[in-house]
Amino acid sequence: MKKLKIAVQKSGRLNEDSMKLLKDIGISVDNGKDQLKASARNFPLEVFYLRNGDIPQYLRDGVVDAAIIGENVLVEKGQDLTIVEKLGFSKCKVSIAVPKSVKYTSIKELEGKRIATSYPNTVNEFLDKNGVKANIHIINGSVEIAPNIGLADAIVDIVSSGSTLFKNNLKEAEVLLTSEAVLASSPNLDTEAKAILNKIQFRIQSVLKGTS
Ligand code: PRP
Ligand code: MG
Repeated sequence: MKKLKIAVQKSGRLNEDSMKLLKDIGISVDNGKDQLKASARNFPLEVFYLRNGDIPQYLRDGVVDAAIIGENVLVEKGQDLTIVEKLGFSKCKVSIAVPKSVKYTSIKELEGKRIATSYPNTVNEFLDKNGVKANIHIINGSVEIAPNIGLADAIVDIVSSGSTLFKNNLKEAEVLLTSEAVLASSPNLDTEAKAILNKIQFRIQSVLKGTS
């Protein structure tokens, strides 16, 4: 029997909630942290544990059929991909932050400045929209450290509780987008895969109705 291949975040904040959702819809997966792939015991589903940033390309190429992923990652790298269902968890913002000591009144103040981020496309789109030119430095993690070590004047990163900004003496200056976890699909699913995905979506909708 055909199995639907679904990608979830390998490790990080989305992983736990994604696995909980699968459990809530009655799908049990052996969650071997060291395994990159696991099969569900009671449903035609194969789970692939992948890095967030790699998931859009896997979906596009049809290496996986579906994914539980943050909308923010799709905005950055997968605007061509389809959101099947918003999942209501892992809510966050992607925001510009500047040192607390800086007086920030408008995005124009970032003209010619250095911005550190893991979301270059999202930042560029926002800057273009506002007619501002700045220098983007791509960093893949611990972005909030950049202003403190003199690497950047501002950062763009995910804000959830706000605690990372606070600990690094930064303040939110602009919200670029709000995001939550979504179920996304590969563009060219065959009939069988579509049918399995529909089943999953139906179960998710029932669970979401029950909790809202
Ligand atoms: C994420 C994100 C922010 C932080 C936001 O980092 O990059 O830094 O969480 O959450 P908060 O507002 O609740 O503090 P993470 O801790 O996952 O590590 P990383 O940036 O090194 O990947
Ligand atoms: Mg971080």
